[in-house]
Amino acid sequence: MKTKILMVCLGNICRSPLAEGILKSKIDTNMVFVDSAGTGHWHVGQLPDPRSIEVAKNHGIDLTNQRGRQFTQKDFEAFDFIFVMDASNKENVLQLAKNTSEAKKVQLILDEIFPFENVDVPDPYYGGDQGFESVYQMLDQACQEIVKRL
Ligand code: 4NP
Repeated sequence: MKTKILMVCLGNICRSPLAEGILKSKIDTNMVFVDSAGTGHWHVGQLPDPRSIEVAKNHGIDLTNQRGRQFTQKDFEAFDFIFVMDASNKENVLQLAKNTSEAKKVQLILDEIFPFENVDVPDPYYGGDQGFESVYQMLDQACQEIVKRL
């Protein structure tokens, strides 16, 4: 059976679409299913932020097949691993968990490279383009670690 991995941020337009695209570029999509979602509803149905699309494109990754969607309680059943970008995403997702086995699926993505340090992927939405490149680099490293574990 395929391993199913969900990337979660707030808007599902900046960080989690990048995480989805980066991880997909490193795995066999016949073996692993990767998706992303936002805890907020504002960008449902929308393309990723043009700055995320651009930075991914600079690294050979296409995000234009992605559309925003909101995280739902059903995602706990549908996915094996739920990687959140920051502490507030984690809190919002955990609020919807029905039991400890669901809660155990939720992990800060940067725990992969900075275990037990509670490091957030900074939200680049209100910053400049450089923020997106730096988010890309962090997520690229974290996804490399995720691949090693699969
Ligand atoms: P993301 O960034 O959570 O990385 O997708 C954001 C995008 C949009 C908003 C907040 C964060 N917003 O408030 O609309």
